[in-house]
Amino acid sequence: MRVLITGGAGQLGMDMALELEEEYEVVPVDIRDFDITELHATIRGVESVNPGAVVHCAALTDVDACEGEEDVAYLVNAIGARNVAIASQRVKARLVHISTDYVFDGQKGGAYREDDRPNPMTVYGKTKLMGERFVKQHVHEHFILRIAWLYGLTGKNFVKTILQAAQTKSELRVVNDQHGTPTWTADVARQVRALLRSNAFGVYHATSHGSCTWFEFAKTILMEAGVDTPVVPVATSEYPRSAPRPRNSVLDNHLLRIQGLDVMPPWQTSLSRFLHNTSSWNKGRE
Ligand SMILES: NC(=O)c1ccc[n+]([C@@H]2O[C@H](COP(=O)([O-])OP(=O)(O)OC[C@H]3O[C@@H](n4cnc5c(N)ncnc54)[C@H](OP(=O)(O)O)[C@@H]3O)[C@@H](O)[C@H]2O)c1
Repeated sequence: MRVLITGGAGQLGMDMALELEEEYEVVPVDIRDFDITELHATIRGVESVNPGAVVHCAALTDVDACEGEEDVAYLVNAIGARNVAIASQRVKARLVHISTDYVFDGQKGGAYREDDRPNPMTVYGKTKLMGERFVKQHVHEHFILRIAWLYGLTGKNFVKTILQAAQTKSELRVVNDQHGTPTWTADVARQVRALLRSNAFGVYHATSHGSCTWFEFAKTILMEAGVDTPVVPVATSEYPRSAPRPRNSVLDNHLLRIQGLDVMPPWQTSLSRFLHNTSSWNKGRE
């Protein structure tokens, strides 16, 4: 089967291609190939590849920038997802759509399940939720994966930011009142591969197991990397941002688990593997 990956030059798209090319003929595409906000260009781009599956990783992912650029965010994350969905349906490709924990408001006491009611608080979250709805509307054979707190080899992410900041600052101040689950791009890619084999279409929460605060995440990154820069816990109120962050972003992979399809490891295991086995992570592959 041929698999087309949108956002192929992005953080997740790159690892998705590496994982899926072990089993499929993979065609990564990015905005240089076609702009997903343009329906006809997207249809032409997808038809020219004629894939059996599309993995849609392209998005506008800067949560704060989305607040100031609402129309662009809706165009890329909602209309873009719709365009990819329409194009996928035209070639009868299954669609894997990547979504986010930010569809929830963070007010729940425990981990969110797939049947919890979304209530996004940010422009980014609203646009991603609309993208999910378009995918359901246009493609019968879809997988929607809600992921969170993503890090990987390419692009900007929290792991790289903390390691770089620890080299130049005498102490780091990191928020300790937002809870979530760090999730490695390579694990999401493995989860997508497992789902593509399964034909078990639906909406899935797909993060690593366990949870922590950003402060605990930062402490663990530095401990694993053998860096002793002190980390000070602070409150979110000390760091106002354009987009409010959910207090609780923890997702329960309930529907993957009950079907025996959950391949995600504990977040600490993956972070350790990423830092120790990915020899080129700190060579600034951006
Ligand atoms: N990062 C996270 O913490 C996180 C958390 C939860 C969910 N997610 C979701 O995971 C997915 C992948 O995220 P990521 O971190 O890999 O993002 P990323 O590194 O920012 O990659 C996104 C890619 O989409 C491309 N793109 C943007 N606008 C486009 C357009 N109009 N047409 C075609 N391509 C376009 C970007 O190209 P340019 O770079 O050239 O703009 C980039 O290569 C997204 O759906 C995101 O919403 C991410």
